[in-house]
Amino acid sequence: MSIATRLTQVLDIEHPILLAPMDLVADARLAAAVSGAGGLGLIGGGYGDETWLLRELDAAGDARVGVGFITWSLVRQPRLLDLVLERRPPAVMLSFGELQPHAGRIKNAGARLICQVQTVAQARDAAANGADAIVAQGAEAGGHGMSRGTLALVPAVVDAVPDIPVAAAGGIADGRGLAAALMLGADGVLVGTRFYATQEAAGPDAAKQRIVAASGDQTVRGILFDIARRNVWPAPYTGRVLKNAFSERWRGREAELLQHQQAEAARYAEARAAGDFDTAAVIAGEAVDLVSDIPPAGEVIARMVKEAGTLLAGASNRFRVAG
Ligand SMILES: Cc1cc2nc3c(=O)[nH]c(=O)nc-3n(C[C@H](O)[C@H](O)[C@H](O)COP(=O)(O)O)c2cc1C
Repeated sequence: MSIATRLTQVLDIEHPILLAPMDLVADARLAAAVSGAGGLGLIGGGYGDETWLLRELDAAGDARVGVGFITWSLVRQPRLLDLVLERRPPAVMLSFGELQPHAGRIKNAGARLICQVQTVAQARDAAANGADAIVAQGAEAGGHGMSRGTLALVPAVVDAVPDIPVAAAGGIADGRGLAAALMLGADGVLVGTRFYATQEAAGPDAAKQRIVAASGDQTVRGILFDIARRNVWPAPYTGRVLKNAFSERWRGREAELLQHQQAEAARYAEARAAGDFDTAAVIAGEAVDLVSDIPPAGEVIARMVKEAGTLLAGASNRFRVAG
């Protein structure tokens, strides 16, 4: 089964499913697995660790994978984009911050430009900057983002940029989510949390197990973990993580944590290195409810496509529309 949309066309892929370029989690192995299964894998360029990025680009070899950047890492290190574009990736994704001059460089190099946005205004800006595809990310998402929910944001973005394929992101982890996104007018989905809990993902096993065990009720958006890792984003960005002993201890006390930042950041860094997720955050979204195993990434894609295809094909049998 396959689902062809404008997104599969513009990115030359079989299934309309993109791997979110998750910092430290979406490495070459996971990206290649997603591309190999018919989606598009995006290596997580994250905060701009050049050594890590070069290693992963080499490891990707001939696999047809793209790269995603948190845009302000390119402001600090513009050369990272050159290193990526030299390898002629099919697509580069930009998330957060000003799109130029990076967007122009990506287009000039002949790669597809994917922009992840959190508001309708940002979607219009991405369109004006030549985006070939736009990811509309709702607040259900794991990791950083803003406050709008996926259900209302996606169709609003679709209406605002009718000529550009839109991928929905935030809370999508199975075929129901893919089918729903397509019914909202999107041309596909970008998926993070679900792919974190796969065999190929680079994250620690203990973090994957927490994702499998958690409910979406046990996630929280905030900046506590960013304060603790000395990485506070500009307002209004916050990040969604699994609640843990650390988040509960400091809940609502951001200012106080800032006052104790030095000592707490040292403890937090130690916990991260030791894989202690009672202190270090597991970055994941509300979709954890829908994650109950750690399969190969290709199986996630096969399941999503099959379930969405079945739902969409049978949709008219599930309801009685009268009048
Ligand atoms: C562990 C993790 C790390 C992430 N890191 C990044 C990142 O480095 N850059 C980025 O653009 N988005 C990042 N995101 C957000 C994703 O791009 C995406 O919007 C999100 O995962 C979609 O929602 P979902 O998690 O419900 O699938 C991250 C998400 C997760 C779960």
